[in-house]
Amino acid sequence: MTTTNTTKNIDKATAGFPKCGMYGDYGGSYIPDALVPVMDEIARVYDECRNDPAFREEYMRLMKEYVGRPTALTECKNLSAKYGGARIFLKREDLNHTGAHKINNCIGQALVARRMGKTKLIAETGAGMHGVAAATVAALMGMECDVYMGSVDIVKQAPNVLRMKALGATVVPVEFGQKTLKEAVDAALQALIDDPTLFYLIGSAVGPHPYPTMVQDFQRIIGDEARAQMIERTGALPDYVVACVGGGSNAAGAFTGFLEDTDVKLVGIEPSGRGLEYGQHAASITLGHPGVMHGFRSYVLTDDAGEPAEVYSIASGLDYPSVGPLHAILKDSGRADYCYVGDDEALEAFTLLCQTEGIIPALESAHALAGGIKIARELTPDKTVLVNLSGRGDKDMETISKLGIFK
Ligand SMILES: Cc1ncc(COP(=O)(O)O)c(C=O)c1O
Repeated sequence: MTTTNTTKNIDKATAGFPKCGMYGDYGGSYIPDALVPVMDEIARVYDECRNDPAFREEYMRLMKEYVGRPTALTECKNLSAKYGGARIFLKREDLNHTGAHKINNCIGQALVARRMGKTKLIAETGAGMHGVAAATVAALMGMECDVYMGSVDIVKQAPNVLRMKALGATVVPVEFGQKTLKEAVDAALQALIDDPTLFYLIGSAVGPHPYPTMVQDFQRIIGDEARAQMIERTGALPDYVVACVGGGSNAAGAFTGFLEDTDVKLVGIEPSGRGLEYGQHAASITLGHPGVMHGFRSYVLTDDAGEPAEVYSIASGLDYPSVGPLHAILKDSGRADYCYVGDDEALEAFTLLCQTEGIIPALESAHALAGGIKIARELTPDKTVLVNLSGRGDKDMETISKLGIFK
């Protein structure tokens, strides 16, 4: 695991809180003219929602009664007994309705869409968990839903494709480029340009303003809950908070609850896939450079021509050549560190969690766990590491089966 950390002169305690859609020099809105009024209207309505106690009340009611929050905090006592080191705690986002953190954001954005009078949602998906969550909220709120998904991911995450269809959504295969998450976002943005009456329910802390802010706000319930649970369980804040980073929404949620606790170390784990050669990984923060993609400025992995790079990870949800602007400023300020772990390390952590704790994690979440275990092994037992277990692994069993790990 390699760590990068660029410290510029930015206040660490406030770095992660955006001002009008800007995270320092990152974020913002780099969009075609046709989308300017669309984003302005979402920003205006979201601002209204943010300041409306009734909106918050309904969001919290759905989190409790529909999603099943608060999610559990589970200590991995067997893992610690086996390896020593710090105590490891899991924030169990896998226990949410639909099986991942994505539903926290989908409920929030669907409430915004409903207030705007929208009747049709569109979404992109990689691993399918956001697609399932979007299809779920569309069914709940009586809306139509189209989910754009790369045809490579449609094959890789087949169980989720069926779930989306069962929920009444239309899955639209995306056949250009690498046919994965980046192209699914390209296709969804184009659909919005073609029909601005749609509501684009973005699945990560990416996209033009106000999306990164909205997603961070809706996901911070993870960190807020975990902070209170850690204090209740251990009498103290965790020493480390670790989360995997694709577009960066589960990490945004887990980190935001602890941003002002500057003694708590925040670590984002990116996928180094099969290795650090071009096209074999998706370590966008660690190996990318500042640039613009999908309407926002952040770190981007590019090819020699400056175009978004080809990316790869065994975890479809981490397979994205950029990252939400929150993480760009957290990296630059030194408030968070970003490291990478590869497919093999994630698979090892996947097996370990299955067989020592009886929990089958998503392959995305297995990256966070691999990083968390490495950190914990270097520490003494009086320290604690909180790992955000972003989702469950049912969707990945086909991929695992093809690898022939379990005979
Ligand atoms: C279970 C799970 N964890 C993590 C991610 C990565 O997304 P993000 O970085 O936005 O949390 C995904 C994306 O599909 C996912 O399904």
